[in-house]
Amino acid sequence: MNKRRRIYEGKAKVLYEGPEPGTLIQHFKDDATAFNAKKHALIEGKGVLNNRISEYIFMKLGEIAVPTHFIKRLNMREQLIREVEIIPLEVVVRNVAAGSLSTRLGLEEGSQLPRSIIEFYYKKDELNDPMVSEEHITAFGWATPQEIDEIMQLALRINDFLVGLFLGIGIRLVDFKVEFGRLYDNEQVRIVLADEISPDCCRLWDAQSGDKLDKDRFRRDLGGVLEAYQEVARRLGVLTENP
Ligand code: C5P
Repeated sequence: MNKRRRIYEGKAKVLYEGPEPGTLIQHFKDDATAFNAKKHALIEGKGVLNNRISEYIFMKLGEIAVPTHFIKRLNMREQLIREVEIIPLEVVVRNVAAGSLSTRLGLEEGSQLPRSIIEFYYKKDELNDPMVSEEHITAFGWATPQEIDEIMQLALRINDFLVGLFLGIGIRLVDFKVEFGRLYDNEQVRIVLADEISPDCCRLWDAQSGDKLDKDRFRRDLGGVLEAYQEVARRLGVLTENP
């Protein structure tokens, strides 16, 4: 399939115009960035793995009726998606204390949280994606109260499903970040899961050893980034040489 007009380039992905109106092509790059792109590297093959892993997870979520932007994987690095209006929020769901939550509240990394916690961050690189409350979101019109409710329900359903999916392959889902968009379908507007779900945006710990199988290996210079992503893909059963 010919690539067309580039619509948007992010840190780890590029969006191109799709073959039909209302579609886009999501291309996964090998770039790894952390700390709002202050740290950058190329991890050869990461994009291919994330494309596969995200395809698998979005398909599984589709099977339990979570609406998503995903249509189909096109090749090693690209998937066909529905064009949505991205809601400018990073929605983080946490099951276990880690990362910025541990730092902010002085919680020991690895301690189980009393219940799953949802946090919202405003997507704005210049501001380092600050944490915001529902008050900010509604006051500034980034989403309506009804949309926030829907996003929270979807985020918790996604979390419940993914906790089980990963536990089944010996992985603890510590936390993850998702994004949502508005899909305009005739007269209807629907909230759908967008972007990707991959080891780039999840914390995944081996249930036995506690080994990190995610982007923290890059953030914290632990080495073996690609091998960790390959291990996640292998356990999910999506590691294959064929496109
Ligand atoms: O850094 P923090 O602990 O807030 O991250 C929570 C989760 O959100 C982690 O799984 C991390 O990978 C993900 N995240 C992300 N993109 C960001 C910030 C966090 O994918 N810009």
